[in-house]
Amino acid sequence: MGKIAPSILACDFSQLAAEVETVTADADLLHVDVMDGHFVPNLSIGAPVVKCLRPRTDMYLDCHLMIDNPGDLLDQFATAGANSCTVHIELGDPRPLFDRMRAHNMRVGLVLNPDTPLDAVLPHLDEIDMLLFMSVHPGFGGQAFLPEVLDKVRAARAIVDERQLPVELEIDGGINLETAPLAAAAGADILVAGSAVFGAPDRGAACRAIRAAAWG
Ligand code: DX5
Ligand code: ZN
Repeated sequence: MGKIAPSILACDFSQLAAEVETVTADADLLHVDVMDGHFVPNLSIGAPVVKCLRPRTDMYLDCHLMIDNPGDLLDQFATAGANSCTVHIELGDPRPLFDRMRAHNMRVGLVLNPDTPLDAVLPHLDEIDMLLFMSVHPGFGGQAFLPEVLDKVRAARAIVDERQLPVELEIDGGINLETAPLAAAAGADILVAGSAVFGAPDRGAACRAIRAAAWG
């Protein structure tokens, strides 16, 4: 059975703690989309929000850093209570960042954009806990799923299984009741869903429906 990670990007930020409460019983991780207006053409939230959220929920805080200089903010995210930070391979060698995340006892994530080949992340497979596949071009919620990304997920699944690596495969962007089964069949372990969860009237039911569609 895989995991569901609602993305708070689709929340009502004016009542964030209450919004999180609506998914606590039915989701596994909380996906926190951090955007700097440079790496992606949108601005969202940062470590101060993680810090405020931390005492309000026990959920795993899965921080996806879509920012040009993650190294400048890693310490802040660790101190704020992030369980993992996930950094983009497009920024260059992530190893120094991984070392710092480990030093902070954070789990380590690496993410690749839809146009980035799987080869770019393969040298790091035994250095990470989570490999995140963007199934939309990052920056905005509510975009359409890019099915061509599934080939990379399938290829990564085969390598991770063959090498018996303890790496979770996560997919982010355009996940809904139609695309969740495709992502799960390709081998994704964690499904991020923003609008499909927080855009639904009953968020718990939405999480359960996505889980059932994927792994039921
Ligand atoms: C996109 C973000 C995603 C986004 C997903 O840049 O990384 O996590 O919130 O939103 P939906 O599920 O609406 O595509
Ligand atoms: Zn994300």
